Amino acid sequence: MKPHLWRPPTLTTERLTLRAFTDDDAQPLFEHARNPNVTRYTLWEAHQTIADTMLFIRDYAVLRYLEGMAEPYAITVTPDQRPIGACGCFWAAQQHLTMELGYWIAEPFWGMGYVVEACHAVLNFVFVKYVPKRMQARVIEGNTASERVLTKLGFRHEGVLRKSLLRRGNFEDVRMYSLLRDEWASVRDGRAVSSNQPEG
Ligand SMILES: CC(C)(COP(=O)(O)OP(=O)(O)OC[C@H]1O[C@@H](n2cnc3c(N)ncnc32)[C@H](O)[C@@H]1OP(=O)(O)O)[C@@H](O)C(=O)NCCC(=O)NCCS
Repeated sequence: MKPHLWRPPTLTTERLTLRAFTDDDAQPLFEHARNPNVTRYTLWEAHQTIADTMLFIRDYAVLRYLEGMAEPYAITVTPDQRPIGACGCFWAAQQHLTMELGYWIAEPFWGMGYVVEACHAVLNFVFVKYVPKRMQARVIEGNTASERVLTKLGFRHEGVLRKSLLRRGNFEDVRMYSLLRDEWASVRDGRAVSSNQPEG
């Protein structure tokens, strides 16, 4: 296949289908990405017009696929084709084999365990395909639902990067989480990781 045609392989879980974004996703995705409740703790801003969503698909998603990165994945509830969110892993520091996990899901679908289910499948795929040593995730202070997602996935809380993010005029505390490759093997196989407690 020509490199520019490469797309992430579709992943399926019990309830979800995770697949590459296409232009057709712009309208249904915009309906969710325009919601400021969704972006309360995200780095990206709520989309103002469908052009913002199209920019995300063409200038972010498709460029990542061109680089051979399986990121971002559109989250859909099988068999509905419409995207209800996104998740994926990107290189935070490739020379150190460190990747970062990101995710969001539309408000009507919060609290249903979908993000854990989606990220579990993505981590399974990514740890094998890209062989990162470390998977990290950053959570802006106050986003307890996101911290729960990470704990359920086996991530460990490492500490707080105090006032490390200038966002919307405020310096935010950021909680750093990580999951190492050998720890993931334990989570994947249903064995508990050694500890989910904050260190120090
Ligand atoms: C954070 C988010 C990804 C959680 O996804 P989800 O699929 O709803 O997660 P789950 O259903 O597994 O719920 C996780 C936990 O948070 C709780 N929770 C869900 N929504 C919540 C809310 N609005 N406030 C407080 N807790 C909440 C759930 O009860 C659950 O706790 P439990 O495991 O003790 O029952 C989702 O709410 C979201 O996309 N938010 C907006 C974008 C965002 O913040 N992304 C993450 C940036 S780091």
